[in-house]
Amino acid sequence: MISSDSLEVLITEEEIGRVVHRLAQEISRDYGDKHPLLLGILKGSFVFMSDLVRLLEIPVEIDFIRISSYGSSKVSSGKVRVVHGLNSDVKGRDVIIIDDIVDTGLATSFVIDYLRKRKPASVKVCALLDKPSRRQTDVIIDYLGVKIPDRFVVGYGLDYDEWFRDLPDIRVVDD
Ligand code: IMP
Ligand code: MG
Repeated sequence: MISSDSLEVLITEEEIGRVVHRLAQEISRDYGDKHPLLLGILKGSFVFMSDLVRLLEIPVEIDFIRISSYGSSKVSSGKVRVVHGLNSDVKGRDVIIIDDIVDTGLATSFVIDYLRKRKPASVKVCALLDKPSRRQTDVIIDYLGVKIPDRFVVGYGLDYDEWFRDLPDIRVVDD
């Protein structure tokens, strides 16, 4: 078992706080008097989602979808499947997908397609982290927190084999 103390901190708790605050302001400004549905992708987005909604200045609804990408602990296989689908009716709604990280982009684009079939009024993507160097499919990130290099990160909801989701900052797990 790796100790979290030995992991290099890439993004501090304070920096995450500033970033989430900025994203909440951008979304509040853009949606004004709309009443968007925030759709969190589990499990990785649960911490980000809970901080974000408390900083928004507009009323929102929330829902979650749980997907899984088969693969090893650090590499997505690209084969995405829905483990737990939507409960909300998204037809005609303004939906904002809340994602922890866009890496290959396969999971996020799968969720965008899944939603579009259900005829929402609009779909936007908000992601805390972006690893653009690993992209396999284009994803437009409308609200982006931080671009990071190609390193495997944990904390603030993100895991390595289910470990470290509880860390308050973002750290690096190298090989
Ligand atoms: P995708 O490769 O963009 O499809 O990413 C799918 C999911 O893999 C993300 O939502 C994360 O949950 C997970 N993931 C990708 N990169 C990392 C990482 O560096 N650390 C932890 N999880 C990651
Ligand atoms: Mg994961």
